Amino acid sequence: MSSALTFEHVFKPAGNASAHTLLLLHGTGGNEHDLLPLGQLMPGANLLSPRGQVLENGMPRFFRRLAEGVFDIEDLKQRAGNLADFIQAAAAEYGFDGSKVVALGYSNGANIASAVMLLRPGVLAGGVLLRAMVPLEPQPLPAIAGTRVCISNGEQDPTIPAAETDRLARLLQRAGADVEVNWQPAGHQLMPADFAVAKTWLQSW
Ligand code: MLT
Repeated sequence: MSSALTFEHVFKPAGNASAHTLLLLHGTGGNEHDLLPLGQLMPGANLLSPRGQVLENGMPRFFRRLAEGVFDIEDLKQRAGNLADFIQAAAAEYGFDGSKVVALGYSNGANIASAVMLLRPGVLAGGVLLRAMVPLEPQPLPAIAGTRVCISNGEQDPTIPAAETDRLARLLQRAGADVEVNWQPAGHQLMPADFAVAKTWLQSW
């Protein structure tokens, strides 16, 4: 295996060179196996599931935070770049189409997904962001027209006020992305309606 594949990961090939690749990004304390069952939301896609490389009290994450919802922006920039490089290296190694990578991220995984969209345009074609926050606000904003985003957040999420979700949607829209926002009668935990929304949206690709 290539030394450019710097993340512990699982890759499950679809066996079809023109398939999309679903990039599964776990939440804090998760790992590369957690979200594999969600591959069924995008039948026929390759699955690529890396493990975050930061440990917070032993719990894997994709970037460092200083406190709940307060991110280490320099670390986030570095780690988003590393993840983008990994995705491109995986496309070369496994032979999938690097222009057809769609993320499905939960919480910290959703936040690194939108950071990759904003910092490395073109690496992700789009993604489902489940319980997502604003990762950072790049100045100047990138141009990411053509990127499609589906946000699904909880109305009673104690960690993500509604205004934060609106700010994320507006940020991505200002950069040119096509953004859909879905609200669930839920907190930070996912519920069946999240998966239903994700499935419908992923099947539109
Ligand atoms: C984050 O750190 O990305 C967010 O606070 C979500 C979380 O991981 O709890």
